Amino acid sequence: MLTGKQIREKYLRFFESKQHLILPSASLIPENDPSLLLIGAGMAPFKAFFTGKMQPPSPRIVTCQKCIRTGDIENVGRTARHHTFFEMLGNFSFGDYFKKEAITWAWEFVTDPQWLGIPAEKMWVTVHPTDDEAFEIWHKVVGLPTERIVKLEDNFWEIGQGPCGPDSEMFVDLGAERGCGSPTCGVGCDCDRYLEIWNLVFTQFNKEEDGSYTPLAKKNIDTGAGLERITSVLQNKRSNFETDLIFPIIEYAQNLATVKYGDAEKSDVSLKVIADHARSMTVMIGDGVLPSNEGRGYVLRRILRRAVRHGKLIGIKELFLGGAVQTVFNIFQDVYPEIEE
Ligand code: ALA
Repeated sequence: MLTGKQIREKYLRFFESKQHLILPSASLIPENDPSLLLIGAGMAPFKAFFTGKMQPPSPRIVTCQKCIRTGDIENVGRTARHHTFFEMLGNFSFGDYFKKEAITWAWEFVTDPQWLGIPAEKMWVTVHPTDDEAFEIWHKVVGLPTERIVKLEDNFWEIGQGPCGPDSEMFVDLGAERGCGSPTCGVGCDCDRYLEIWNLVFTQFNKEEDGSYTPLAKKNIDTGAGLERITSVLQNKRSNFETDLIFPIIEYAQNLATVKYGDAEKSDVSLKVIADHARSMTVMIGDGVLPSNEGRGYVLRRILRRAVRHGKLIGIKELFLGGAVQTVFNIFQDVYPEIEE
């Protein structure tokens, strides 16, 4: 069975074999981008490369980017796949390759037994209804049957101002037993059956301050694959929290608590919140964010307080965040050297 660490490494090596430059994760603190509080996508540190304002060190880049997203903080621990911190695997083309390579390489990485080896018959994809080009590539080049290529209106990726475009998402069918059983259940359903693992964005527009879309001079690729999600599939776990990327933090916390993982839904939520928030605080402090009353510092303070409160809810009496951070450090030490620094 592949470890989370091996999957991260395989992704970087696969795209290195396709002439991508491997760059380390950027800091969570955005550089020269007042529109963002924290980095929340692999492409965020590269906006200036997409718009042509700056020259990238290579037209092809691959990263595993630390990401913080707090919009869904109330859902963390309640679902198999919501986090405030996650790692986004991403390959990027700045005016270099476009849809055909992005799609066929993603397919190769996901299904080739030498890489992830997820059975092709479990894969579904979505495309924007107007994107005949992507549809044809999935059908004619990759060979996916048309009934597994779903057209969805919301297949357009943007985040505030900046580079954006139509996208194509890849899903793994985890089986009917994971589904909601509704006759309309399918790709895009909110239940756990179809897990989105990778989003391929065909970045060809820039969203301006006034909300309009300007075509970019060059066509680009921005992709994002969730490391925790892919790991849950390959490790055959029902939740991202049970993968080797996160579970050691739950084990640490349950050893101090009056509950064990699996005892009750409510205490499991607390264990998962602690695990998630311990990851977030470790990487944020590692990148130089400190708790405060505003901005990023306030996000961190809120995360710290929530973790402490959930510790109390499951009967932890002593100070425990230091040990939780140490556990995160053990998992990440040779991946993100900035944490040790
Ligand atoms: N930027 C795209 C996303 O975050 C890949 O989903």
